[in-house]
Order: sequence, then C-alpha cells, then structure tokens
Amino acid sequence: MRFKAIAIDGPAGAGKSTVAKLLSKKIGFTYIDSGALFRAITLKVLKLGIDINDINSIIKHAENSKIDFINNSIYLDGIDVSKDIRDDIINKNVSYIAMIPEIRKIIVNIQRKIAKNKNVVVDGRDIGTTVFPDAFIKFYLTASVDERARRRYNQYSDKTKYSIEDIKNQIIHRDYIDSNRESSPLKQADDAILIDTTGKNIDEVVEEMLYNISMKGGI
Ligand code: CDP
Repeated sequence: MRFKAIAIDGPAGAGKSTVAKLLSKKIGFTYIDSGALFRAITLKVLKLGIDINDINSIIKHAENSKIDFINNSIYLDGIDVSKDIRDDIINKNVSYIAMIPEIRKIIVNIQRKIAKNKNVVVDGRDIGTTVFPDAFIKFYLTASVDERARRRYNQYSDKTKYSIEDIKNQIIHRDYIDSNRESSPLKQADDAILIDTTGKNIDEVVEEMLYNISMKGGI
C-alpha cells in the first residue's frame, strides 16, 4: 500500500498550521509541522551561541541533532521544545537557517522518513514543490498581509510588546527571505489549489479542503 501526503504551503500567518492540525484530525492523518523542524535547529544554534554565519558549524550540529515529533510535541535531543521554538528570537532568525541547502536536505529527509509508513498532512513552504512533489493533493494558503499580521497579533498574550505594524513588517521581511532564497523558495506548486483565507474562518477553510479532497475521489 502506498501512503498519502497532503501538502499545505503558504506565507507566514496564512493559517496553515491551524487548518493542517484540524484537517489531519478529521481525516485521521498524522500532522507534520515542517516549520517546527527548522525552528528546532534554530533554537539549538542560538542556545549553543553558534554564529549565524558559521554555516559549517550549524550543519555539523544539525547533523548531530535528534529531532522527533511525539503526540504533536517536538523534541530536540530528548527535550520537549514545543514552547521555546515559538519565541521571538526564533521568529527573527529561522529564515536565515532555512536558507542553508544542507539544512533543508536534513529536514526533507526527516519528513520523508515519517511519511514512509503513515498518511500525513504536512505544512510548510516547499512541501508541494520539493518535499512531496507527488503529494495526493496540494493546497496553497494565502491571506492579505494585514489579515495575517492581525492574526499573529491576536496570538500574542502580551499586546504591548509589538504593534500590529511591527508584526506586519516582521512578516513582510520573513516572506521576502523565504520567497527569494535559492534553495526551494516559498512558491505555489503548479498543481496546488489556491485558497485565499482572507475573511474566512478555520472551519470554512477546512471545509473547502475536504470538498477538494472529495472531488479527487476522497482519501
Ligand atoms: O508558522 P509560521 O508561518 O510563522 O512559520 P513556520 O511554518 O513555523 O516556519 C518558520 C520558518 O521556517 C519559515 O519562515 C521559513 O523560513 C522556514 N520554513 C521553510 O523554509 N520551509 C518549510 N517547509 C517550513 C518552514
């Protein structure tokens, strides 16, 4: 039997991880948060005080890292880092780590290994183009940059730290790096279904996905 992958790509704050989690639950697939893998390596690099420009050292430490998903939590070298990888310092640095082709290769392999014996829903930037080019179905989620910034702002418990405008600028900056890097940039795959989530709630987006899945004959 061949296992199925469902790819969900798109820019920061488009709602990928929320809908990917819900969709995977509804259809009984395993959820893979590929961004969490890049974030975990970024956390390790920063914790060890490695210079962000020291590519060789970053690759060496990434190769020697053990990264696992257990019940939707992410473990780095045996420690649950699900909370730590969401820190601002990670948001600011992750796209630089994600530019390194060798790091991308390591992370592609982790995802393919998980998907070898499981049906998976995977969200990220290069899933439909590079990681699972023959995915069963591919979605590309977008939303206006103002809406994406608003969603991120609402996720912050401390609303005084950043203004919506600050968050909007961070998102624009990260999307620019992600879209313009040489190694598997953020890009809609030719055969991906585009869903603009502006003004749509989570359930509406998931329904739209389920409809498209059913149009393909279901899972
Ligand atoms: O949740 P959010 O959209 O903020 O980001 P994420 O999915 O956790 O991804 C964090 C960063 O990892 C992205 O901005 C990319 O730089 C990188 N990434 C990537 O290059 N390729 C992926 N498949 C997933 C994430």
